[in-house]
Amino acid sequence: MQAIQATQFGDPSVLAVVELPDPMPGPGQIAIDVTHAAVGLIDILFRQGQFKDVPGMAQPPFVPGLEVAGTVRALGDGVTGFAIGEKIVSMSAGAGTGGYASIYIAPVHGVLSIENSGIDPALAVSVIPNAAMAHVALTLVAHLAEGESVLVHGALGGFSSAFPGIARQLGASRVVGTVRSSKIEAAANTKLPYDRIVDSAELPGVLDGEKFDVIIDPVGGTVRSQSFALMKPGSRLIVAGNASGDWAHGMKTNDLWLGSTTVAGFNAGALLPSHPQALRRGLEAALKAAASGLCDIEVDVLPFSAAVTAHERMENRDLNGRIVLAPQL
Ligand SMILES: NC(=O)c1ccc[n+]([C@@H]2O[C@H](COP(=O)([O-])OP(=O)(O)OC[C@H]3O[C@@H](n4cnc5c(N)ncnc54)[C@H](OP(=O)(O)O)[C@@H]3O)[C@@H](O)[C@H]2O)c1
Repeated sequence: MQAIQATQFGDPSVLAVVELPDPMPGPGQIAIDVTHAAVGLIDILFRQGQFKDVPGMAQPPFVPGLEVAGTVRALGDGVTGFAIGEKIVSMSAGAGTGGYASIYIAPVHGVLSIENSGIDPALAVSVIPNAAMAHVALTLVAHLAEGESVLVHGALGGFSSAFPGIARQLGASRVVGTVRSSKIEAAANTKLPYDRIVDSAELPGVLDGEKFDVIIDPVGGTVRSQSFALMKPGSRLIVAGNASGDWAHGMKTNDLWLGSTTVAGFNAGALLPSHPQALRRGLEAALKAAASGLCDIEVDVLPFSAAVTAHERMENRDLNGRIVLAPQL
């Protein structure tokens, strides 16, 4: 098969197109003929070697990529419910690698059929895994109730952009986003179902005292600090990433007591393996949200040969939606 390898840790130039042996599915797995592989921030962090000392993390040479769309190539022992050639999308397979390849082996619990859905596979791989995670975060962790309000930081980012559609589907009354100043123009043109998007540099004043029941924060750093002023008794702040790279951020736990607020962590990789039913509900909700246009974002499709460009653009923040790599282009 054709694949893109990170030949060592380093800048985007360490990515190379290589030929590797075709993998076979084991018990409980599906082999996928990949048409589209999503590029995520986590792929960049893996390639840079930021998690290289964490036990179990991939070491070079490895194939980056978490999420793919394609068709069923072969079924491993014990797998039922999928037909050869069926159009599918797959979530991360645990190790967080292997997606930038023309064949991908996925555990069946993270695979969803998109046959007859009418959803473009490039959009499907860009939004369905993130929307499934958003559904789990908003239901299992944030306990979002109908009529509640939601604030989403990094509103146009790959992960964040799945939240407004799922929040709407769950009955949120109001969904507001924050972006950095450089994305205010893109925010004005988004089709995502936000009521309002504001500049995070102007928090908290720009919101004129508005408070939120749920705040989704994959950004961290300064916007996380500012989030506390946007909470009221009963609010839940979901810590779901650290795109700002500020690992020194801290908080005073006594403030939670005094304000009667909740801060909860959400990491799909840690939570989903022990919550397969929540994942399945999330995938089904994500399919409905994507099919009804609640997750429409810009998707740029590039050939495998442009993997270096794809990673450079992610690092330079030169995108308003997601980038997807296609082996057949
Ligand atoms: N909890 C989970 O299970 C889960 C799942 C997926 C992702 N994540 C996490 O969510 C975060 C975003 O991932 P993603 O795949 O959505 O990435 P992405 O598409 O690259 O989006 C990054 C987002 O963070 C914003 N951001 C703010 N400050 C930033 C900075 N200093 N550098 C880079 N970005 C900055 C970006 O804003 P601009 O648009 O203005 O650049 C963008 O909205 C990561 O920390 C990732 O690990 C968590």
